Amino acid sequence: PEGKLQLVQRHVRAFPDFPKKGILFRDICPILKSPAALTAVTDLFEEHVRSRQLQVDLIVGLDARGFLFGPLLAQRLGVGFVLVRKKGKLPGATVSVAYDLEYGTAEVEIQEDAVAPGQKVLIIDDLLATGGTLLAACELMKKQQADIQGCMVVIELRDLKGADRLKPHIFSLLQY
Ligand code: PRP
Ligand code: HPA
Repeated sequence: PEGKLQLVQRHVRAFPDFPKKGILFRDICPILKSPAALTAVTDLFEEHVRSRQLQVDLIVGLDARGFLFGPLLAQRLGVGFVLVRKKGKLPGATVSVAYDLEYGTAEVEIQEDAVAPGQKVLIIDDLLATGGTLLAACELMKKQQADIQGCMVVIELRDLKGADRLKPHIFSLLQY
């Protein structure tokens, strides 16, 4: 029988030269289109948290595709979900950090009262490339005095060595 990981892997597509020439874009849309594959992703994330006995108060998800997986895991764990958004999207007092992307630059932001000092957070995104986005999210969490338990992604692009830039442990389901 097909394992959960193979099921997930079967639902990732590669598009050459998107959004720029030379980038092989890994597309996770088929995962979302398949209830079984999306459940498998959530199962694998949950199994990782439980097997490592990670203590988690909040799941922190990254704009935009971290929002697709984060809340599902948060519900499984019975904890809340917090949004790290691209700049200018969140109302009220915010904290922001600028960062470089594989293609371009950006700034991420969180509501100032989103995480209380000492809360244990697990950061989620769909994909790790250069690590700039997750690094910026970790910076935000440090500003919030959060206790980072780790980072989880569906896909890690190993050649870009993003994991080397990050202090927290990176857990990925698929590596290319
Ligand atoms: C992509 C991806 C990750 C990030 C990874 O998002 O979803 O968040 O880039 O790249 P990095 O490791 O080099 O930082 P993108 O910024 O394209 O935004 P989107 O999710 O809003 O499409
Ligand atoms: N796929 C999806 N998102 C990305 C990629 C990719 O290859 N690189 C940076 N963000």
